[in-house]
Amino acid sequence: MSSEDLIIDKREELGTLISEEQLRARIAELGEQIARDYSGRDIHVIAVLKGSFVFLADLVRAVNSDLLSVDFLGLSSYGVSTKSSGVVRVTQDLSLPIEGRHVLIVEDIIDTGLTMKYLIENLRTRRPASLEICTLLHKPDNTVTDVEMKYIGFTIPNEFVIGYGLDYAERFRNVPFIGVVRT
Ligand code: IMP
Ligand code: MG
Repeated sequence: MSSEDLIIDKREELGTLISEEQLRARIAELGEQIARDYSGRDIHVIAVLKGSFVFLADLVRAVNSDLLSVDFLGLSSYGVSTKSSGVVRVTQDLSLPIEGRHVLIVEDIIDTGLTMKYLIENLRTRRPASLEICTLLHKPDNTVTDVEMKYIGFTIPNEFVIGYGLDYAERFRNVPFIGVVRT
């Protein structure tokens, strides 16, 4: 079954790819690593909406830093289809300038990498002091760009995943684990 033909109606149709417990444990590690790496520096987190909102909420609470700030950027590369169009649309711009800030982009998933490539190029023109990426999930088999990811939660196979912020046609973002469609 190709991802364009997926039809998901109930969460019972999902298998667990990454459990709540696995998410918790890995995010605690990422948080510690980020706090260590940015020790004494500001961490200006930019969360890519909408998919990263659940990961963001857990990640920032795992980072022990008093110099952390958060801003949001709305990007959309998918319509209701599960296939990447390669066309990136800015649906909401940042509310704060990033010049001279240590920017950490928080993303739910890097699939083709086209969304992130667009975002990196866009943010670089605003002259941040540094620019790094933290993605919860990475699908290396599908990635066609050369974006450098400093923090990766989990490397996953090329399957369409849902839950923990990730949607299927705007549904299932509230599922507390990372699920896949059972075939
Ligand atoms: P990319 O541009 O192909 O890297 O895709 C980036 C965006 O597509 C992500 O931020 C997600 O919003 C969405 N996306 C990619 N793969 C999946 C998936 O398996 N499930 C849900 N959304 C996905
Ligand atoms: Mg996204």
